[in-house]
Amino acid sequence: MSQAAAIDRDLDGKVAIVTGASNGIGRAAAAQLAARGARVLAVARDQSRLQSLERETGAIPCAISIETAEACVEVVSRARQFGSPTILINSAGRGGYLDRPIFEQTSEDWRQTLAVNLDACFELSRHVALDIRRSGFGRIVMISSTAGEVGAPAMSAYCASKHGVIGLMRSLAHDIAPYGGTCNAVLPSWVRTEMAEQDALKEAAQRGLSADAVWAERAQQNPAGRILDVQEVANVVSFLASAAASGVNGQAITVSIGSNW
Ligand SMILES: NC(=O)c1ccc[n+]([C@@H]2O[C@H](COP(=O)([O-])OP(=O)(O)OC[C@H]3O[C@@H](n4cnc5c(N)ncnc54)[C@H](OP(=O)(O)O)[C@@H]3O)[C@@H](O)[C@H]2O)c1
Repeated sequence: MSQAAAIDRDLDGKVAIVTGASNGIGRAAAAQLAARGARVLAVARDQSRLQSLERETGAIPCAISIETAEACVEVVSRARQFGSPTILINSAGRGGYLDRPIFEQTSEDWRQTLAVNLDACFELSRHVALDIRRSGFGRIVMISSTAGEVGAPAMSAYCASKHGVIGLMRSLAHDIAPYGGTCNAVLPSWVRTEMAEQDALKEAAQRGLSADAVWAERAQQNPAGRILDVQEVANVVSFLASAAASGVNGQAITVSIGSNW
């Protein structure tokens, strides 16, 4: 059953940038913000998925890899064609090696993972912060992870990047607060998206199980006995992006149906 929150058009007139909008959590968040009236710039590499989102929601496709500072400048300048981007949802993410202990991690994977999961959040945020300062309103949401607060084996780059965005968020929250801005992080537990499916498939292959069996175990480990739904994460993101969330700033909010992981 879809668990999208009831929505109204409270974001009419706002311009929002949503990264990772071609899929999973970012896509669900982009759709919710668009339904609430925001002009959404939907950022990811896969043009055809972005076009399908555009057909469904009106979100504007921006097919680009956000791995460099220059690309992030390009994203913000495209958004500014539609007005001042004062909402930024940093959902693009790269799992990298989620199954390699430190002995087998590589510099290249570390750099690529940090580039998407942390550097791009910094680059996009520092530009959007200028729009927030000018406008007197702003919402930045980082999609971190439960792996942003605890260590987990064999995922050093991913864990480091997800801890990093929480630190970035906590400092940024102070900087934009005087200008009506808030910055928060959402920390989901497992959600069955493409990225997480890749991990489940690897684990399944290692243990001689099916991916469904791995997901059944993950569901069993959750106090609710099920896996978190993508819409449940998007509901929280969409609330944090709204004017109603003005009192919530600098927070790392776990969305996990009660699980610590
Ligand atoms: N699923 C989970 O269990 C879980 C749990 C905790 C946190 N998270 C976090 O949630 C966020 C969203 O992940 P998801 O689970 O929704 O996975 P997903 O469905 O695989 O989505 C990942 C998104 O990131 C985009 N992306 C990846 N590399 C990019 C790049 N270089 N430039 C631009 N976009 C890029 C992908 O689009 P393209 O491939 O089209 O570029 C895709 O839209 C991530 O930050 C992830 O770390 C996920």
